Formats: sequence, C-alpha cells, structure tokens
Amino acid sequence: MNPLKHVAIIMDGNGRWGIKHKNSRNAGHKAGLNTVEKIIKETIKKKISFLTLYVFSTENWKRPKEEVNYLFKLLENFLISRIEDLHAQNIKLKIIGIKNFSKNLNKLLKYSEKKTSKNTSLQINLALNYGSKTEILHALKLISKNKKKITEKNFINYLQTKNIPDPDLLIRTGNTNRLSNFLLWQLAYSEIFFEKKLWPAFNVKDYNKIIKKYKKIKRNYGNI
Ligand code: IPE
Ligand code: IPE
Ligand code: MG
Repeated sequence: MNPLKHVAIIMDGNGRWGIKHKNSRNAGHKAGLNTVEKIIKETIKKKISFLTLYVFSTENWKRPKEEVNYLFKLLENFLISRIEDLHAQNIKLKIIGIKNFSKNLNKLLKYSEKKTSKNTSLQINLALNYGSKTEILHALKLISKNKKKITEKNFINYLQTKNIPDPDLLIRTGNTNRLSNFLLWQLAYSEIFFEKKLWPAFNVKDYNKIIKKYKKIKRNYGNI
C-alpha cells in the first residue's frame, strides 16, 4: 500500500454546476465551498499531512470582474468564519501564489498564516493567484540573484512549495484533462486522477474511492 502524505486538488466545475442547478456560476462557487469543507474533514480523518487546493490561478483574472469579486468575497468570508476553528484543529494554513489582493484580504491572509504557522496536524496550502510558470521563473531569478548554482536541490528551495513534499496524488474534478498551470514541477511523479463529476457534486465517497485506487498503484519512478 502506498503511503499518502500529500493530496493536491484542482477543484474544477463550479461554474457549470451553478449554471445547471441555479442558473448562476457564482451559486456554483458557493456550493463548491461545501465540498471543500467535507474534503478537509475527510483529509484530517485520514491523517494526510498536506492538502493543496487550487483556488484561483494567475489566468483566472481574465474572468468577469463580478465573478472574480465574488470568489474573493467567498474566500474572505470563509477565512473570517473558519480560521479560529481551523486553528483549534491544529491546522496550518499556507498561501502559495502572489498575495497582491485588496489590502483587507492581504491582511487577513497574513493573519491566518501567522496564527496557524506553528500547527502540526494537517497543512492546507491554498493556491491563490498561483501559476506554475510564474513560480518557476521567479525561482530562477532568485537563484541567479543569489548567485547559487542551478541544481535541483537549490531550485526547489526557491519554489513557493519549499519544505512541502511533492503531491503523491492529484485529483482534478470537472471532466477536463489538463493541468492549467498547476504545480508543473511538483507533479512530475504524482498519480493523476481525472474525475468526471463537477466539484460541487464531488463527495467523500468519491474521494475515498480515488484514495483506495491510489494506494494500490505501483509507483516506479523510472525503476521497474
Ligand atoms: C473552478 O471552477 C473554480 C475556479 C476556477 C475558481 P470553474 O469556475 O472553472 O468552473 P467551470 O469549469 O467553469 O465549470
Ligand atoms: C483551474 O481551473 C483553476 C482552478 C481550479 C482554480 P480553470 O477552470 O481556470 O482551468 P481552465 O481555464 O479550464 O484550464
Ligand atoms: Mg473551469
């Protein structure tokens, strides 16, 4: 049985679910948050150490302003209402991506990270304004600025995922088989599951089914 330390999820399909069920993409984002809560709970239960959630990509700024604003309002409300409880559950929150949001949200994100920084059960990484290509270029710039040798070991220390093991398992919901600029370096040897269900319809049973399949995979890393 494979150990499972780190699950990464591309939570896709909110918009389509919202249009289908409530004629509103934003309603889909709201419903998607319920799935986030359930998956966090199950991840704790399963004693998995890291959960990385793709919340907003560097490309998602192309969306209508109204949708972008709604997404950040949802995030803000989620943090305000849930951070104390997450902290009480010994969860550490980390943001990967560039924090250049409104003053209020930046402050809230920093507060949430600082407050939970010493926690030791599950680490949740929220990929927010995250893009893998930007991350890689930034790491290369830092290496060159600090006159370090370009080695794998040095390089990964300049990524935003420094000190986080690579995901063992990547799940993308929403019936789309692509990475959309998510953790391109870190996913080099992850087991990838593309799930047909849209994110708001994804449930704990689906999650457990994937985990069960993952545990049985023979991971070769180039070996036989
Ligand atoms: C993923 O759902 C959530 C974000 C990108 C914020 P989408 O909003 O991409 O949903 P679809 O793919 O349009 O259905
Ligand atoms: C990926 O979903 C980003 C997040 C889930 C946050 P998208 O819906 O933005 O991906 P594309 O644009 O369809 O590739
Ligand atoms: Mg999408």
